[in-house]
Amino acid sequence: MITDGPDSPMCGKATVRTHPTEEAIGLIWVFIGDREPHPLSDQLPEELVDPPAFAVGGRIQDRGGDWRLYAENGFDEDHAKYLHRTSYWRIFKMRPTWNKVHIERHGRWIYRIEDERHWEADFPGLGHWSNDRWWKIKPKQQRGKLLGNTGGSKKSDPYIEGQGFAGFASLSLPGVLRIAYPQFIHYEFYVPIEAGRTKYVGVMVQFKSGLQRAGFYLKYLGGIRWLFHGNFSSQDHWMVENTDAPPERLYRPDISLIEWRRLVEEGNPFDPAVPVEVNAADETEER
Ligand SMILES: [Fe+2]
Repeated sequence: MITDGPDSPMCGKATVRTHPTEEAIGLIWVFIGDREPHPLSDQLPEELVDPPAFAVGGRIQDRGGDWRLYAENGFDEDHAKYLHRTSYWRIFKMRPTWNKVHIERHGRWIYRIEDERHWEADFPGLGHWSNDRWWKIKPKQQRGKLLGNTGGSKKSDPYIEGQGFAGFASLSLPGVLRIAYPQFIHYEFYVPIEAGRTKYVGVMVQFKSGLQRAGFYLKYLGGIRWLFHGNFSSQDHWMVENTDAPPERLYRPDISLIEWRRLVEEGNPFDPAVPVEVNAADETEER
């Protein structure tokens, strides 16, 4: 009708349904629902509501696989050690051999928190296991709380460090993953399309301005987009799309999956039908 002009006889005779939208971190957010939408700022990760200057890169893709499995995969530590061992993004970074973790609840987020990190280990009857290779960068932090899972950094971004995240990996409903690295935060938003199909929104945000901001876009478009949001992320896509469970057999590190499933069973905290106590932002509980 636009191309037919404002006096088109079609005007007023054809309509499409519209949805409320808001803009944040360079993305348009659409509320698909029959009720009054809650403010987007209630649902965004807190550090993105009123952020300092930032740069953003991302990938949006419709993928086969259930949104809950994408969330499980994103929050899980151990799949990365095996699945991503061949990714170009991690080819020069050492990964720990094994970790002990526990999950903590802070408000609407569950955090995966490292209790132990072992870069190498001797397995009785199997031998020595290490991800150390001559071409891999050695971890800068052997022990202690760190951002990211490949050895931390001597200098972290002050805005990211200042958030005081309980752990570098956190997950909240309705399907928001946050992985804090020393120089950027990686988010994944899992939007269900239908059973077995998910709109995957992967976003990398770096809090820089001026020349550093321009430098981010240069690096992002020159390589990171292909390495991280391409090759690396496509491994998760492949695995989730091919996951056929149950039946399943869980092991100790799968505590992160179990706690995520518990969270899902509470229901969407932004849905007014869910009891108010679930929305309590000051709830802190250790499991
Ligand atoms: Fe992954």
